[in-house]
Amino acid sequence: MARRLISPAAACRGCGFVNAGFLGAVSSSHSAKFVGKRTSCSVATEPPPAATEKPEMDAPKEIFLKDYRKPDYLFDTVDLQFRLGEEKTIVTSKIVVSPGVEGSISAPLVLHGCDLKLLSIKVNGTELKGKEYTVDSRHLTISTPPAGVFNLEIVTEIYPQLNTSLEGLYKSTGNFCTQCEAEGFRKITYFQDRPDVMAKYTCRIEADKTLYPVLLSNGNLIEQGDLEGGKHFALWEDPFKKPSYLFALVAGQLGCREDSFVTCSGRNVTLRIWTPAQDLPKTAHAMYSLKAAMQWDEEIADAILPFGFATCQVFGLEYDLDLFNIVVVPDFNMGAMENKSLNIFQSRLVLASPETATDGDYAAILGVVGHEYFHNWTGNRVTCRDWFQLTLKEGLTVFRDQEFSSDLGCRTVKRIADVSKLRIYQFPQDAGPMAHPIRPHSYIKGAEVVRMYKTMFGASGFRKGMDLYFQRHDRQAVTCEDFYAAMCDANNAQLPNFLQWYSQAGTPTVKVSSSYDPSSQTFSLKLSQEVPPTPGQPVKEPMFIPVAVGLVDSTGKDMPLTSVYSDGTLQTLSSDGKPVFTTVLQFKKKEEEFIFKNVPEKPVPSLLRGYSAPVRLDSDLSESDLFFLLANDSDEFNRWEAGQVLARKLMLSLVADFQQQKTLVLNPKFVDGLRSILRNTSLDKEFIAKAITLPGQGEIMDMMAVADPDAVHTVRNFLKKELALQLKDDLLAAVTSNRSSEAYTFNHDSMARHALKNTCLAYLASLNEPDVTELALHEYKTATNMTEQFAALAALSQNPGQVRDDALLDFYNKWQNDYLVVSKWFALQATSDIPGNVVNVQKLLSHPAFDMRNPNKVYSLIGGFCGSPVNFHAKDGSGYKFLGEVVLQLDKINPQVASRMVSAFSRWRRYDETRQALAKAQLEMIVSANGLSENVYEIASKSLAD
Ligand code: ALA
Ligand code: ZN
Repeated sequence: MARRLISPAAACRGCGFVNAGFLGAVSSSHSAKFVGKRTSCSVATEPPPAATEKPEMDAPKEIFLKDYRKPDYLFDTVDLQFRLGEEKTIVTSKIVVSPGVEGSISAPLVLHGCDLKLLSIKVNGTELKGKEYTVDSRHLTISTPPAGVFNLEIVTEIYPQLNTSLEGLYKSTGNFCTQCEAEGFRKITYFQDRPDVMAKYTCRIEADKTLYPVLLSNGNLIEQGDLEGGKHFALWEDPFKKPSYLFALVAGQLGCREDSFVTCSGRNVTLRIWTPAQDLPKTAHAMYSLKAAMQWDEEIADAILPFGFATCQVFGLEYDLDLFNIVVVPDFNMGAMENKSLNIFQSRLVLASPETATDGDYAAILGVVGHEYFHNWTGNRVTCRDWFQLTLKEGLTVFRDQEFSSDLGCRTVKRIADVSKLRIYQFPQDAGPMAHPIRPHSYIKGAEVVRMYKTMFGASGFRKGMDLYFQRHDRQAVTCEDFYAAMCDANNAQLPNFLQWYSQAGTPTVKVSSSYDPSSQTFSLKLSQEVPPTPGQPVKEPMFIPVAVGLVDSTGKDMPLTSVYSDGTLQTLSSDGKPVFTTVLQFKKKEEEFIFKNVPEKPVPSLLRGYSAPVRLDSDLSESDLFFLLANDSDEFNRWEAGQVLARKLMLSLVADFQQQKTLVLNPKFVDGLRSILRNTSLDKEFIAKAITLPGQGEIMDMMAVADPDAVHTVRNFLKKELALQLKDDLLAAVTSNRSSEAYTFNHDSMARHALKNTCLAYLASLNEPDVTELALHEYKTATNMTEQFAALAALSQNPGQVRDDALLDFYNKWQNDYLVVSKWFALQATSDIPGNVVNVQKLLSHPAFDMRNPNKVYSLIGGFCGSPVNFHAKDGSGYKFLGEVVLQLDKINPQVASRMVSAFSRWRRYDETRQALAKAQLEMIVSANGLSENVYEIASKSLAD
């Protein structure tokens, strides 16, 4: 049953620490009894005391999807006034309230509130008396509001300077900013803080003019001027109705890069990116990304295509205001936030220069700027009815940004990267105590579900579905079923069992066995599916799974597919006389057989092409079939996948050998397979880089009955070294022939060159031989961009010793004034597999450049450390102890960030008994700590639950 706790952590796009190899679970639900004293919101009568002194909380109620009720009251307009001060901020909120559609006239009006000091409350201009309302630590309740439309005025006092949770209104390096998704608005004022309450807002901001010359909010600036006492004001009006989670305010000393974009209907939109003045030169790429995203989302005639979207799938969506602002802040819990016309970003996802940002950073900026912009339609114009529907906006918008990045770069490479992310971050969570259906909040898998609609209906059918969705639901708060209905209705189709994707947790496994019958020239694929039980969902129903299939003949070519028989029906595949080489099987039962007709020879099937569904595939392909596909498959994704399946099998068998103390030996066929990929000049270089990269340690541990980090680490290192030894000449050639000679530009060709060169250098460095160390040093010293410099540093830092120490110190000295580069430096050391690294990470916690209040640094250092299986899971428990202690410290500062960190413990049952006992002890220590936040308690207690 779908359920969630009070504070849904927003499923953020690029939580900021994905690159550090760690993605925390987001909170979902809890119903357990409380063990220790925990803190929650309190009724503030003065600046909130330190977290540990807060009163014991009243237990939050678990919320269930089935209990959804429309709000009793609607808010038509909301006029906010902020008087920003150095010690406190006074917020006045004037709301026109009307009865809800189903609202009973006598229902009490219940407003959410958290850490607020109530100064006054008036209804229709009259101050309410004590008996007429009640306040507890989470709500303000007006017992008998007037019938009909009435005016509500509430004045609260808040303390943004003391707000280190970075939710609601807070200060980041001297500037005021907000983060309201999911439930931060209730930290600003008492409100019906739920996404189905949509209202028109105005926002008047008053502040000291010298300290806060720039005052921003959503919508259009309609008035500004000076006030007495060195103050000034700005009045903003947002003409679009919006939920409170999209409200934003910024005040501070900021400069802006300004540009403009003319929309397809001819509206001139002013674009501004705000950041401290010294960082403005680093905003050029973000501005480029914004304009590219605006253009991509429209329907564009070929003639005006400076960005060259020759094959793009556009949405016909135009921006709807005259101004679009992006503000950059260093302290932000998430990657970025799509507030209406005032997006707020953490610095890492906007600021870039070739000297300080890598290709990966440039690509992330493109994707996230696009993502937040795309939310203007998928999220803002059509929003979620309740937080169970989070994937409605996140899954869809991630899908849109994936498509955008694919159209601007290389589709296969982007697909490989997205699928790898899904496997690394989502599948392990699906298999653990945090497993949850996508309906609460899985944004990676949510995008896969949206992609399946496109796979089923094709690009034009998908577009028809999107058009109908907007036509039906513009300016509404809706559900995943509404999206499904629009897709099906627009295509006049049904997708049986498809809605299971929204409600069932866990990753389905699809088993495939094949057989060829030469006499009848038929080829049969028998498919079966199994969704494993997950907490609260012991029994699963079959799901609708689109399986894209091609058949490869003995020369390596795709066979034309003529017809396929299943479920009593013969389906003809060729259309308009054109041959079909890939077909999508609609697999929707527990077991189903598909028989291809007119198959002249035994083919090798290429299954789940392009990764057409987010499942684990377990096929009967032999090793030689896989080598054949690695060399020949026309579907590049599956070509990569064949190599990965081979590598996973190889690694698992070597792990077994290691555990049985056998000598490790590398299969020469695997070396030959990688060599031929490396030498194949017709392949994309970034594709080659991905194809020669071994699956991660986590992926292999995920496939083991009892995860063994030491064995997996040893095997992966053995393979890396052995491959480097046997492919040394090819690797050296790839490094030297892919050096950059021109000035840095962000384009696929140069990224691909860098990727191949850097991957090969990393292989070579594993040899730890003097000539390759010299080479890496040379690359480090001569690099003219951060992509190559950082890759060379990473290569050098693989092996402990003086060279490593010197290089790390040199890098720090060079970049100590650039905090984003310093974060990379933290992450590199944190993720290191060198033995006993916990001691270094512990030391770095007290490094002057580290700051526990900055989420980006926490994600880099602490999140990064949890991404090194061999050190985090050290058998002596040192890694667990480190994390346990840090989580408690962090929780007092920022519960949301702390809860992401604690989720690294969530799969403790996957390990051996010794490790289990050590991790469990830390979790028990955490849940019994006094003053623990709800966020951390939820994850820790759920991890402990049977
Ligand atoms: N809703 C925010 C985003 O998508 C977290 O980036
Ligand atoms: Zn998003």
